[in-house]
Amino acid sequence: MSKKRGGNRKRTSPDTQDTILSDQKKKRSRKQRDQSIPNFVKMEILDNREASSTQQIKEEEIEKEPFKNQKQDTDKIYTPLDIKTEETEEKEQKEEEEEEEPVKRPEDDDKEELTFEVLTNDGKLQTLEYLLQLKNIFSGELPRMPKNYIARLVFDRHHQALMMFKQPRRDLPEHERPKTKKRVIGGITFRPVNAERFIEIAFCAVTSLEQRRGYGRVLMNNLKSYCQQCRWMRFLTYADNFAVTYFEKLGFSKTITMDESRYLGYIKDYTEATVMECMLHPRIDYLHIPVMIEKQREAVFDRMKEVDSSHSIFDAHETRQRILGKILNQMKNSEDSWPFLKPVTLEEAPDYYDVIKNPMDLQTMEEKLKADRYQTIDQFVDDMMLIFKNCRSFNRKSSVYYHCANECEKQFKLFMNRLR
Ligand code: ACO
Repeated sequence: MSKKRGGNRKRTSPDTQDTILSDQKKKRSRKQRDQSIPNFVKMEILDNREASSTQQIKEEEIEKEPFKNQKQDTDKIYTPLDIKTEETEEKEQKEEEEEEEPVKRPEDDDKEELTFEVLTNDGKLQTLEYLLQLKNIFSGELPRMPKNYIARLVFDRHHQALMMFKQPRRDLPEHERPKTKKRVIGGITFRPVNAERFIEIAFCAVTSLEQRRGYGRVLMNNLKSYCQQCRWMRFLTYADNFAVTYFEKLGFSKTITMDESRYLGYIKDYTEATVMECMLHPRIDYLHIPVMIEKQREAVFDRMKEVDSSHSIFDAHETRQRILGKILNQMKNSEDSWPFLKPVTLEEAPDYYDVIKNPMDLQTMEEKLKADRYQTIDQFVDDMMLIFKNCRSFNRKSSVYYHCANECEKQFKLFMNRLR
């Protein structure tokens, strides 16, 4: 003890000096320590203090080794409820929230990112802090589940927790980063059943302010990806009846394909909950599902192109011109179309234009087609039929012209039927 600090005190033996701390100093020192140690660890310390009034805790020792007791008993799992009353816990939690809740502004949203980590209770201060945050989320979001039961599983060393954190984006320059800190916004506590290669999901929740923003989906997909690597290819869970739809959307089914004898007794049974199963596929990249779906869509589209031409977008006008031109050529090449190739001349039939008021022939039709004067296929058909009608009006039934008109008409109808 330095001279200055102990100057006015009665001299005491070094041992006694360690234990006789003034009430005021104890309080101040405890307060400082309390701010840096999670609540449940604080209670562990308080418990020790209460356990033996003669064994006063050395403040410096605690500050140096907050987990001293824990190290001695590595199998003991520390939970908040093992070591403090619920009332104290809530009070302290409230105080913590008031003091430490980061100020989150809406404009910070795109300046923050999600990160994921799988944690187990390894006794480290940071891990315990995060597990406590997750336990608090579960307690708030699953109000029907006893708090002590949640705490027991979250801190149990046979359980793992996939934690979803929100934190300032690491790619932003320091001065642009929001003042918020890395915090847990959701997670899934699960227990692998190694012998049967499945996991049991005990709790899954996203903090209420962040729900319905797609985070629950990202969270589950991260768990799938992690379990794929560990070769735990099946998930079983008792889904809260309110959350069944969420699980269904994430690939869970109420139909359990696993033999009952392989999971009954391994997983806990809950009331007002539905047992659901999800099988993982070894080749699905659960972290890049949208990219995978897009690639799959492209592959299906490519395959369709090979067998079907419906993907091609034709220019309707150009297509019509091309088809009508082709039909006109076929008509011109027909052996019966020779009377209709060109307009009837006065030399051939001096009174023709007295009888036929709307003459038509294949040459005129070709000129009209080139001049883009057929706006519809019907206009083209009408002109062609006019040729045959004029012919039959002007010539006798027994004439070769009349016969040619009938034959050409038959062919033309055949072409048109094929077109339709
Ligand atoms: N009921 C119906 N549909 C839901 C629910 C719900 N309770 N929650 C989410 N969905 C749907 C969403 O509409 C979305 O569908 P869409 O993609 O077609 O639009 C899809 O599920 C994914 O939604 P997200 O926004 O990713 O889900 P969210 O971030 O809200 O997380 C969760 C879902 C974990 C259920 C969250 O709402 C929550 O924490 N709820 C309270 C706690 C809870 O019920 N947990 C599950 C208990 S069961 C257990 O722990 C084993």
